[in-house]
Amino acid sequence: MYLTNKQEAILKGEEGWAKKKCLEIIVALGEIYGADRLIPVASTQISGVSYKTLGEYGLQWVESLAPAKVVVPSTLNPAGMDLCLWSEMGVPEDFAAKQRRVIRAYERLGIITLCSCTPYLAGFAPRFGEHVAWSESSAVCFVNSFLGARTNREGGPSALASAITGLTANYGLHIDENRKPTAIVEVSAKLAGLSDYSALGYLLGKMVQQDIPYLRGLSSLDVDEAKALSAAAAASGNLALFHAEGFTPESKVGVVEVGELLHVDERDVKGVYDELSTIRSGKIDLVAIGCPHTSIAELEAAAALLKGKKVSPATKLWFFTSLPVKVLAERLGFVDVIEEAGGRVFTDCCMIVAPLERMGFTTMAVNSAKAALYAPTASKVDVVFTTLEKCIDIALEGRLI
Ligand code: F3S
Repeated sequence: MYLTNKQEAILKGEEGWAKKKCLEIIVALGEIYGADRLIPVASTQISGVSYKTLGEYGLQWVESLAPAKVVVPSTLNPAGMDLCLWSEMGVPEDFAAKQRRVIRAYERLGIITLCSCTPYLAGFAPRFGEHVAWSESSAVCFVNSFLGARTNREGGPSALASAITGLTANYGLHIDENRKPTAIVEVSAKLAGLSDYSALGYLLGKMVQQDIPYLRGLSSLDVDEAKALSAAAAASGNLALFHAEGFTPESKVGVVEVGELLHVDERDVKGVYDELSTIRSGKIDLVAIGCPHTSIAELEAAAALLKGKKVSPATKLWFFTSLPVKVLAERLGFVDVIEEAGGRVFTDCCMIVAPLERMGFTTMAVNSAKAALYAPTASKVDVVFTTLEKCIDIALEGRLI
């Protein structure tokens, strides 16, 4: 792999230990994947923020990088708690202390502590064609597919290494040739809401493990629909890029010498709700909305469903979003309506990376296929996957209905 004199100097340690270690990570990845050179990135988004997923060694690694500073705008994935309202969530004090240390360590590196998997809804959206190094898989799939930016599915350490060096290795989805669709997926299902898009994403991820799908037949793909689809597709498979006819910016890049033609119909989509639900009746401890973090439109829709109603005392109704979206939702009155009904809107965290297993929850309802897929193992809860409307009904009743 070609390296400039400056990059060689960094590898010799001439710009400090942290930058040397970070560049070593990027060069090693480049060599494994056959990159020809390193390229600059315009931004990074870094996972490995919840202490639950980062752990002690991860925390020590982040702390060891100071006094290095990031050289491009960089934001964080969700942490394990709302950084202000953690005590109200019931997050244990020992976890909170570790989590605060993690955030401080990232802050010292100059990272913007926007802790969200949807930074593109909060002022950090890469442009078409821009090379970036993002690591949250749902955001990777969204920015590649819906915005036409270019990133591989980075791990937390490699995204952090890119933040500190401003570089990534030129391979994978940074290269034109590797972004072309390789399988057509005909979608005949009529998709009725975001949870249907999430179910479609789940199917897509499972179907096209190594391919880049080209979706035909969608009647709509707005920002929230693309967000739901991307998250589930990246969770059930390795999907980092899809094209959707008429909706995504690179969908005209040549439809394909296609190897495979796949189909998704209504029955397939409806089947996902059953497949991912581990319970069919009984009390629900937590109704959790916001995987990926909710947009302003989702909070508006939830507020409309909750207006003048009361959440059952047997259940908690929690929304997860980014801090900027919550501030806007407060200004627009949506948070007041949700809270008057007994719900809560938390920021900086989510139902999967919070330590739910230590917070007394055993059953959860979600409108996200990704959350439903991860929750039983990540949070040790039984789960029901359903629509937003049914989630709200469950919260009002306190049980599955
Ligand atoms: Fe985001 Fe957490 Fe879901 S990081 S995509 S809300 S699992």
